[in-house]
Amino acid sequence: MRNFTSVHDIGDLKSALEKAKYVKENPFADQELGKNKTLLLIFFNSSLRTRLSTQKAGLNLGMNVIVLDINQGAWKLETEKGVIMDGDKPEHILEAIPVMGAYCDVIGVRSFAQFEEKAADYNEVILNQFIQYSGKPIFSMEAATRHPLQSFADLITIEEFKKTEKPKVVLTWAPHPRALPQAVPNSFAEWMNATDYQFVITHPEGYELDEKFVANAIVEYDKEKAYKDADFIYAKNWAAYQDPNYGKILSTDRAWTVESKKMALTNNAYFMHCLPVRRNMIVSDEVIDSQQSIVIPEAANRVVSAQVVLKEILLGL
Ligand code: CP
Repeated sequence: MRNFTSVHDIGDLKSALEKAKYVKENPFADQELGKNKTLLLIFFNSSLRTRLSTQKAGLNLGMNVIVLDINQGAWKLETEKGVIMDGDKPEHILEAIPVMGAYCDVIGVRSFAQFEEKAADYNEVILNQFIQYSGKPIFSMEAATRHPLQSFADLITIEEFKKTEKPKVVLTWAPHPRALPQAVPNSFAEWMNATDYQFVITHPEGYELDEKFVANAIVEYDKEKAYKDADFIYAKNWAAYQDPNYGKILSTDRAWTVESKKMALTNNAYFMHCLPVRRNMIVSDEVIDSQQSIVIPEAANRVVSAQVVLKEILLGL
């Protein structure tokens, strides 16, 4: 594997899940693979899970790990080409990226959607500049449109907890006070569509995702109908995708909060969320504190997904 930005880079899912099982059972088996190799993790945005789990994955593989927070101590970066740099950004990303590439062997990048220009977000301008100019393998630690390490960890978790071969998995929109990107739901949909699960998306009208990610999923606007007989409820907020409302909040209706009454409609479903989660906005205390909440094992599997991806990249060096 050279770069990892979506489900399309992981190859056969069955084989990826077998690799995940091996890595989980043998976390230190490949210490020699990463010896004298440097992993650089670049964050344009905040993180708890991605930062720690990806560092841990690199360390498990014997790598040296450097973490750079662009907005804390690094020069502020200009990302637009052709601009007169007379503002507050002293360095252009066109020099910064190859310089960063010169100091490492593999680069992870976190760069969220900015909600300024839909085209810039959906063309993944920042991530693609790293792929183009770093000279090194690049993996996404959540970009503008996808969060593939999260989705891979979600898939591993569903496989570990599922009680039927083809579970019903429901992605539900839930309210949030701030406008959040579509990366997690887009990516989750893309990975679920690559399985043979029954996959349903439910959200209020106006929150339709990009058709490219929805693909063969069933879209059900009636949330109670969507919850019926679900085996997994995966909650996430996202801001509107469709024009002219791109990046806007259209609803904060708490009728969409995941709570016990709706969970009672399911097949004793497990509750999932990528975290961080706003309690009693996205999910009630009662649900997230229940036995059916698997948000912690889901987060723990972030080490496994990152380690499989890093191992595949190292094998390709
Ligand atoms: N789920 C996730 O990516 O968490 P962080 O934003 O804390 O990395």
